[in-house]
Amino acid sequence: MESIELKSVIMACHLEELTTEEQHLVELAIEATNRSYAPYSRFCVGAAVRLANGVEVVGCNQENVAYPSGLCAERTALFSAGAQYPDTPVEMLAIAAKGTDGELQYEPIAPCGSCRQVIIEAETRAKHPIRILLYGKKCIYVIDGIEKLMPLTFSEF
Ligand code: THU
Repeated sequence: MESIELKSVIMACHLEELTTEEQHLVELAIEATNRSYAPYSRFCVGAAVRLANGVEVVGCNQENVAYPSGLCAERTALFSAGAQYPDTPVEMLAIAAKGTDGELQYEPIAPCGSCRQVIIEAETRAKHPIRILLYGKKCIYVIDGIEKLMPLTFSEF
């Protein structure tokens, strides 16, 4: 038996170091936290997607009294983009969150496993990696391609 190392390198930076488009997408994700419907967890997540045609689509978590019926911010944004622009590739995704204290998270917020799986599908459709921007007050993680967050992805083909 041999061990195989799965290595993943991501970047950490500050808002000013991002391009204007990236900064704008992060701002949209932050703004979207204010429209989150999270009466149960009080954890407000915002997401914003930038498509190849320059259109930006936002999403925020939508909770439900029957808990599994709710949906994360990332999937709300990605599914909305897919519903409106089915043939336009997703280029970037920004995520931000406010905790129960109403403050933006200090550490960058990372997508849950189900959202990672949906991001994989968006990359497959786009036929290229998606740049993922994870906002935290401390720093922003810049991740080029979901495989860095979810190695050994399931592929049907
Ligand atoms: N949530 C997201 O919106 N995105 C994630 O990637 C993780 C969790 C939401 C789901 C739920 O409404 C709240 O955060 C607390 O888990």
